[in-house]
Amino acid sequence: MAELEVLTDAAVLIDGERIAAVGRYTDLQPGTGNVERGVEVVEVAGVVYPGFIDCHTHAVFGAPRLDDHERRALGMDYKTIAAAGGGILESVRDVRARSDAELAALTRARLAVLLAHGATTIEVKSGYGLDCETELRQLRVIARLAGAQPASLVPTFLGAHEVPPEFRDRRADYVRLVCEEMIPAVTRERLAVACDVFCEPGVFSVAEARTVLAAARRHGLALKLHADELDGSGGAELAVEVGALSADHLAGVSPAGIRALAASETVAVLLPATLVFLGGRSQAPARGLLDAGAALALATDLNPGSSPTLSLPLVMALAVSQLGLRHAEAVNAVTVNAAAALGIAADRGQLAPGFRADLVVCDVADWREVAYWMGGNAVTAVWTGGSACPLPIGSVSLGPHVQA
Ligand code: NIG
Ligand code: FE
Repeated sequence: MAELEVLTDAAVLIDGERIAAVGRYTDLQPGTGNVERGVEVVEVAGVVYPGFIDCHTHAVFGAPRLDDHERRALGMDYKTIAAAGGGILESVRDVRARSDAELAALTRARLAVLLAHGATTIEVKSGYGLDCETELRQLRVIARLAGAQPASLVPTFLGAHEVPPEFRDRRADYVRLVCEEMIPAVTRERLAVACDVFCEPGVFSVAEARTVLAAARRHGLALKLHADELDGSGGAELAVEVGALSADHLAGVSPAGIRALAASETVAVLLPATLVFLGGRSQAPARGLLDAGAALALATDLNPGSSPTLSLPLVMALAVSQLGLRHAEAVNAVTVNAAAALGIAADRGQLAPGFRADLVVCDVADWREVAYWMGGNAVTAVWTGGSACPLPIGSVSLGPHVQA
């Protein structure tokens, strides 16, 4: 992961939605070699990267959770806040009360900002509905936006994000609802490619998560897992056991979990902005995972409770300063390995012939700067599927103007 091929005076030849060739600028000029004379030439200054891939977001939500933010600053932790009526269930109440049009408009604005920071492929989870109808509504919003803006969206069903209040005393019934009604409904409409579970002490146990993932697999969904986010409970081991594409978060991963990940194809997705936003917690053991041989990816975890973060370059900078990643590891973690965390590594995440022509340009002198300017945005141009995206996007409203 610490190796990166960096070409100077380079050019990328794009044919339709795909990359046809990558090489020296002089070799790829129109009228030379295999390049036709009439090819359109676009000159860019700076560094061209493969389009960044944000492999973990919860972008479909309504209001920000400012009271949680404030309570945390006063010393309350994530789980205490949730028990006091904040947390995921506050966003669930909010999302249930909002219209599809409003959710779509808010999500679209957030996707535009993610794209302006270089994210050309974005995974988006449901999980703020927690009833069949609202989970489907969230996923339909994602489906609608997939064709209506330039980034590629990868939808994930996260009905097991929390137990909703109406099932508080009958959680087994909720797990059954997820398995027997929600997953079949989601797959019938082809609304998700993967299923995720928040496997965490006090949320869903390893046994409950295993049940949900088994049902998801039976319906042909790929598997992902919020594993060992706050406290360790064997989530990483479960992700490996079921052959999940990724185990995400991992701040509480055990030595056995690290060994299991290292010996598997499951990608460890780390989300350093989340732990910074939650404050005062130690980060996932990134170096331990890397040294053991695990594949690492990075993502924003964009969500209203633990990571209102819209910039993968910020996440890369945090990975260097908080997780001890090298710059090359950070770049690989948002390109090749993030693609692997979504099961699409053969299609995107590299500037190489045959790959999807998703490109990001940063106006910088050194490729490492993308993981250096903390909170700035060096992105000056983005292409998705061979087409230039309109940038800059101007200012957008990230949250609603009225309470639901
Ligand atoms: O990835 N852990 C579960 N899901 C989110 C938080 C969601 C929320 O607080 O609304 C996460 O951190
Ligand atoms: Fe998450």
